[in-house]
Amino acid sequence: MAILTIVKHPAEILEKECKQVTQFDKNLKQLLKDMYETMVAADGVGLAAPQIGVDQQIAVVDIGDERGRINLINPIIIEKSGEQTDIEGCLSFPRLYGTVSRPYYVKVQAQNMKGKTFIIEAEDYLARAIQHEIDHLHGVLFTSKVLKYIDEEELEGYEEQ
Ligand code: CO
Repeated sequence: MAILTIVKHPAEILEKECKQVTQFDKNLKQLLKDMYETMVAADGVGLAAPQIGVDQQIAVVDIGDERGRINLINPIIIEKSGEQTDIEGCLSFPRLYGTVSRPYYVKVQAQNMKGKTFIIEAEDYLARAIQHEIDHLHGVLFTSKVLKYIDEEELEGYEEQ
């Protein structure tokens, strides 16, 4: 078990395009495991590799629903529709929250830790978490999309991504 240090804004690595993963080896498997444990320890629902200082297209998401842990490697949004507006936070921006509008539904193509391509469809909160993490892989931070910042008192128990 390894809890990694989460990179906080401002940091150059949070704002750059991450590289495609080409090596699906045991180091990748370990990195995903460490990222997941780091995310859980920080009470997050998602974590992207640049947030632990790795500029590769890797993210983990777990919103605590029946789908559990989702590993996303080289993810691409191939379809999206609808719209939702809700509060977001980010583990790289402690105590900062704001409302963000995003598509309600996404269909994403990604690879798993063995390099196998899969498709995942998501709606609502899971779609939001996945889109937030995919943004990280392209150096896009939620603060660039915030419509309105929210005071901390308004947010009892909100989880960061
Ligand atoms: Co984030």
